[in-house]
Amino acid sequence: MYSSEIIGCGMYVPENIVTNHDLSKMMETTHDWIVQRSGIEERRWVSNDTSTSDLALKACEEAIKSAGIDKKEIDCLLFATISPDHDFPGNACFLQPKLGLTEIPAIDIRQQCSGFIYGMSVADAFIKSGQYKTILLVGAEVHSKGLDKSTKGRDVAVLFGDGAGAVVIRRTEVTDKAKNSHIFSTHLFSEGQHAKDLWCAAPGSGLGTAERLNHLHLEEGLQYPSMNGKKVFANAVRRMCECLMLALETNKVKLEDIDLFLFHQANLRINQMLAQELKIPEEKIFNTIMKYGNTTAATIPIGMSDAVKAGKLKKGMLVASAAFGSGFTWASSVYRW
Ligand SMILES: CC(C)(COP(=O)(O)OP(=O)(O)OC[C@H]1O[C@@H](n2cnc3c(N)ncnc32)[C@H](O)[C@@H]1OP(=O)(O)O)[C@@H](O)C(=O)NCCC(=O)NCCS
Repeated sequence: MYSSEIIGCGMYVPENIVTNHDLSKMMETTHDWIVQRSGIEERRWVSNDTSTSDLALKACEEAIKSAGIDKKEIDCLLFATISPDHDFPGNACFLQPKLGLTEIPAIDIRQQCSGFIYGMSVADAFIKSGQYKTILLVGAEVHSKGLDKSTKGRDVAVLFGDGAGAVVIRRTEVTDKAKNSHIFSTHLFSEGQHAKDLWCAAPGSGLGTAERLNHLHLEEGLQYPSMNGKKVFANAVRRMCECLMLALETNKVKLEDIDLFLFHQANLRINQMLAQELKIPEEKIFNTIMKYGNTTAATIPIGMSDAVKAGKLKKGMLVASAAFGSGFTWASSVYRW
């Protein structure tokens, strides 16, 4: 049976750094509040003329280069995002021509902060089934254009940043599980009864109005994300612990066998609690939230690229990832780099 392996990764964040002090000029907040509650010190925001697919393009180009493949070998494009260029078509359709690719399937994944691991799972299944051989998976977000930057929206606005991360996932045959790079497993979960605890209501056909978006929706601020922060926090810790342990048990891997943990970055405190709960040494967790904030579907592949560049992620290492986000959705994966 075929397996899949990550053969290259890339990332891109906009140059414009927005510090907590910058935010305190837009809304009632302070650097200390943001750092104490979330660990975030700064994030990147795009300029007006940059879209989500523009960020994705740069991350994909780096991933293709690092994989050492000709882009014509890519036979499927997967794009995880909650902040697309436009309402429709999907963002993979906008990215495909920018990459100079034609006709290959262009598929969007809408699983928020768990989107990248959901995408890994889809890619892994496509490859195992023999349907595709070389898949480009990108997670990218432009959150800055969709946040309420007034004091009313401060609980959400301070947490999110813009960025993109991409990987090339390719068919491989595993002869030695302990040595060969490959994806061991992915585990995916969701609990839709909590959908409205972290969501963006408008535009939407579920608003009970004749239009998906009207001036009343805008006056109410329904075009901005809203969140039950404490509930999200508690569920994130619980569910990430659960799905991580399940991934380890399934693969008969011990926690101490994992060389690096690449978790989603929603809040540094979530990852610290995870580490405390599971007794993971802090040096084995690679955090990026301090400088990028939460970049949703882009977070884990940005972490991969940053970790490679920092010399923390090396070929042959056993890696575990877990994520939790809106939906609620959560997911985990174990893979040998
Ligand atoms: C958002 C979050 C940082 C808030 O931290 P918290 O400890 O729960 O804080 P609270 O919501 O209880 O707010 C405490 C106070 O700070 C205020 N506050 C909220 N945002 C603030 C900000 N940016 N700056 C200053 N004060 C703020 C609140 O209004 C509240 O004031 P009050 O006590 O006068 O009502 C935290 O709940 C969190 O990280 N949740 C998970 C978020 C997440 O993971 N989201 C993405 C999922 S993928």
